Amino acid sequence: MKDGNERIRRLAPYPFAEINKARDKALEAGMDVIDMGVGNPDLRPHPLISEHFKQALDEAEHQNHRYPPFDGLMEFRGAIAGWYSERFGVKVDAETEILPLIGSKEGIAKFFLSYLDPGEIAIVTSPCYPAYIGAVGISDGTLYELALREDNAFHPDLDSIPEEVRSKASVILVNYPNNPTGAAESRELYERVLEFATRYDLAVISDIAYADLSMEPDYRAMSFLELSGAAERTIEFYSFSKTYSMPGWRLGFVAGNSTMVGNLLKIKTNMDFGVFMAMQRTGAYVLGAGADLIEPARRAYTSRRDTVLTGLTRIGIKATKPPATIYVWASIPPRYESSMEFAKDVLLKTGVVFAPGRGFGTYGEGYIRISLIQNEDRIKEAIDRIEKAGLL
Ligand SMILES: Cc1ncc(COP(=O)(O)O)c(C=O)c1O
Repeated sequence: MKDGNERIRRLAPYPFAEINKARDKALEAGMDVIDMGVGNPDLRPHPLISEHFKQALDEAEHQNHRYPPFDGLMEFRGAIAGWYSERFGVKVDAETEILPLIGSKEGIAKFFLSYLDPGEIAIVTSPCYPAYIGAVGISDGTLYELALREDNAFHPDLDSIPEEVRSKASVILVNYPNNPTGAAESRELYERVLEFATRYDLAVISDIAYADLSMEPDYRAMSFLELSGAAERTIEFYSFSKTYSMPGWRLGFVAGNSTMVGNLLKIKTNMDFGVFMAMQRTGAYVLGAGADLIEPARRAYTSRRDTVLTGLTRIGIKATKPPATIYVWASIPPRYESSMEFAKDVLLKTGVVFAPGRGFGTYGEGYIRISLIQNEDRIKEAIDRIEKAGLL
């Protein structure tokens, strides 16, 4: 029997497997591990969200036990259209331009499957959410990592993309507020991306998973779909996972160009049955309820971010202040050669887990990502342990 196909042989293992293995070994050895590696929120969803879910679950006439419609409940799609209009002033058609997702990760992967032809290039900003890299690989596409550099506010330099990449590319992906750097977009950047995509006839994927997790009073993330003409070639992914502390609930959606959304629906129709109906009804409630449900988490993340930044400054680790997301992106100390070497040393000597930057792509090297998923006492404890271990 063969052990898999060519695609699976080519597919790189999950990038954090090595650090996760080291973490599990530390746990087995009885170490008090402080895990700030993966972006898996410790906060609980707002109690009203659970309450609405229970209500939605108990309504007999909702027929929750049945397969949901492939394209989702109109109640949820209508709420998404209303949210786009209210939040961004963007008009999206609930019938043809919106699709509920079982978390945005599956939608992103299946979109690439529906769009890339073998060998076609996907331009993806790097460092990035690692699932993009896997999704391009699974789709038999070729990845071009477009560097996000600190000296350019973690914005891409589109002029740096070689001519042969432009001619073989069919899609460009942007993600702001950015995982892992925490950087914010600017309207001017988005306009340049749209102009570039239009010139080379590329589709745009925008991922706004962290759009509602601003940590600065004067920063409110925008939608790429706000740009005039963007809807002709853009789809945008949104996730409930971080904003509403619902990662395990698996809820997200995509909005934008109807052909692109339709292609994704065609793939999904063959691969899954969409989102549990009680969950879609809960999603409709959550989007309608808005900021009240987000505020406690936003405040907690902001305060944790500030505690991390104060601690890092005290022990001499350089980090940029993220205006949004649930991450701090910090430089590794100069005496380490790689992010993996630093992350492993920190873990072995202190029990603190950071995600090595290289796991987020080529341009993540030299950094670590700190997830704000521990309370302030544990954050302070982590910083103290690193200071005492004399790693710097
Ligand atoms: C940028 C970005 N997009 C999408 C996702 C996927 O979120 P989910 O599949 O939980 O909706 C994540 C999760 O970490 C992310 O960081």
